[in-house]
Amino acid sequence: MERISSGIKGLDDLLNGGIPSGHTVAVIGPFGSGKTTMAMQFIYYGLNNNEKCVYISLEEDRDSIIKTAKEFSWDFESHIDKDLLLVKLDPEDAKSTMTRIENDLSQEIADFGAKRVVLDSATLLTMMFQEEHEKRRILFLISNAVKKAGATSIFTGESKPDNPMVSRDGLLEYVADGVILLNQIPLKEKYELRLVLQILKMRRTNHSRKMHPFYIGEKGIEVLAEIDLL
Ligand SMILES: Nc1ncnc2c1ncn2[C@@H]1O[C@H](COP(=O)(O)OP(=O)(O)OP(=O)(O)O)[C@@H](O)[C@H]1O
Ligand SMILES: [Mg+2]
Repeated sequence: MERISSGIKGLDDLLNGGIPSGHTVAVIGPFGSGKTTMAMQFIYYGLNNNEKCVYISLEEDRDSIIKTAKEFSWDFESHIDKDLLLVKLDPEDAKSTMTRIENDLSQEIADFGAKRVVLDSATLLTMMFQEEHEKRRILFLISNAVKKAGATSIFTGESKPDNPMVSRDGLLEYVADGVILLNQIPLKEKYELRLVLQILKMRRTNHSRKMHPFYIGEKGIEVLAEIDLL
């Protein structure tokens, strides 16, 4: 099976060599758990590997995305419109966002020749719509667009506050071929939270089911193989 590197140090080993090509992977976690960082690192690896990448954002505009990446010394700016297509969707305007996704986005992603796509965040996208069927529809439209282009993707999502094992809307898991959970857990008898990651599902491959600690440092995310948490 063809795989692509996640670009995250330590993660490919836990996935038996990388993300199966063409998968949509949901990266789910509470605020500040590293979802955007992981998504950007996935894109950064692609850019360095001469792959075309599409970054769809609902939160950040172009300048903010460039700035966030720059904090990790990841140069996005010089790739824009050449290998990197930034798509800003307006979270205030449900109608135009739905139309854009329905009519143009699929073609844009395919025409650009995208190998990697990020959607940050799927939760904000579904939150724009009131009805459950609209939420489902928008997620399926966007994941079908990515699949049609043959790209591999990361969709970020907030976890449910009362159950960090599932996404806030409970829908993202169902369009995803893989689910990676990020979380912050308290260390025993220490007044500190430790970032941890766990692969809940990854279709068509074996993978680690353990909880792995990870760090966010100057070069982004590094996942550790073994747990020494407590
Ligand atoms: N340059 C950096 N060096 C080290 N750690 C950083 C750096 N930038 C961010 N972080 C850490 O990463 C955390 C935020 O990560 P990120 O924005 O990826 O999370 P998120 O899950 O996308 O959050 P949100 O739900 O708010 O969008 C920060 O709270 C901080 O702890
Ligand atoms: Mg974020």
